[in-house]
Amino acid sequence: MSSEPAFIPLSVPHLAGNEWTYIKDCLDTGWVSSVGSYVTRFENDLAGAAGTRHAVATNCGTAALHVSMLVAGVRPGDEVLVSSMTFIAPVNAIRYANAVPVLVDAEPVHWQMDVSQVKSFLTTGCECRADGVFNRTTGRRVSAIIPVHILGHPVDMDSLMALAAEFNLTVIEDATESLGSLHRGRPVGGIGHLGCYSFNGNKIITTGGGGMIVTNDETHAKKARYLTTQAKDDPQEYIHHEVGYNYRLTNIQAAFGCAQMEALAGHVRRRREIHAIYRKRLAGTPGLQFQAEAEGVVSNCWLTTVRVDPAAFGSTARELRDRLKAARIEARPLWQPGHLSPAHQDAVKLPCPVAEDLFENCLSLPSCSSSSDEDIERVCAVIAG
Ligand SMILES: Cc1ncc(COP(=O)(O)O)c(C=O)c1O
Repeated sequence: MSSEPAFIPLSVPHLAGNEWTYIKDCLDTGWVSSVGSYVTRFENDLAGAAGTRHAVATNCGTAALHVSMLVAGVRPGDEVLVSSMTFIAPVNAIRYANAVPVLVDAEPVHWQMDVSQVKSFLTTGCECRADGVFNRTTGRRVSAIIPVHILGHPVDMDSLMALAAEFNLTVIEDATESLGSLHRGRPVGGIGHLGCYSFNGNKIITTGGGGMIVTNDETHAKKARYLTTQAKDDPQEYIHHEVGYNYRLTNIQAAFGCAQMEALAGHVRRRREIHAIYRKRLAGTPGLQFQAEAEGVVSNCWLTTVRVDPAAFGSTARELRDRLKAARIEARPLWQPGHLSPAHQDAVKLPCPVAEDLFENCLSLPSCSSSSDEDIERVCAVIAG
């Protein structure tokens, strides 16, 4: 009798701590909805991890991005710079604010937002006036930048923050994939004016679904809390001066998150270990390039990803995905870049050849912190042939 090998997933929740205890506590005490001590504790945990003074919980990372856009003062018709090589959520969030995405290429070494392209867009493609920075071609105001730290690796934040200061732009970090990563010793998400995290099921920690906005700016934090809680100006009389949203996280989800935060350092350590195993084991396999880790940076190695050179490797990334699938191993290409997305054809698209190459040739490999060395060896054996 032949038994099938166990399925090896790409990235699934790792639940090995106090999740049951804390969630049961919510059920036992009746604190199951959108207020409760776990919400406050989870927010404090995230502010601590981001190194910021404030944190506001939301029901998902996309909601965190949407509200951050409004808090940042992005107005309808404004343009917002964003990485083209990303899961689509931040590009969509710009649309929710009735603004227009300006899609920026990736650099070829770390695969993050190409800050030199941002610089040339702002210096040659835009005009500075007393009332802001304006795109010379479209005439629209440019108001913010969303660097997306993809796969756990930080964007070059030193250069980006310097540009943002020069052009007076607000930086909203999409750190949804990068909780636990460091850029020159500073936690990613806590460097920009606002930062957003996601606790979706495939992230480094999860609450089932959830998100967080972090900031050092008290006014931003107050506004974020106001907008995520239906913009209540008088909670007794139900008076609202603005359109608000019900974007709150429940106490049950926050309890889940508190338990996961206790495990965060271990999850980062294990994902980095898995990344190191792949690199070592596949070092002799021709045609594979790993995402390089920049100097002064610690990636949480959320998803170990390889770029496959079809000529040197002997097959394409998608053919390799199919071989892995036949061996009951999940792997997936990167996201269709925003500038190629049929949903965003009316965005401003800067030339994005690197993002296109990464979309064509990259494959993310199983990276769960709960995976064993044997699981990773099974993946490597299929890849190395
Ligand atoms: C880069 C990026 N931004 C935003 C999100 C959205 O987060 P959520 O699914 O929690 O809305 C995700 C993941 O889902 C993501 O990978």
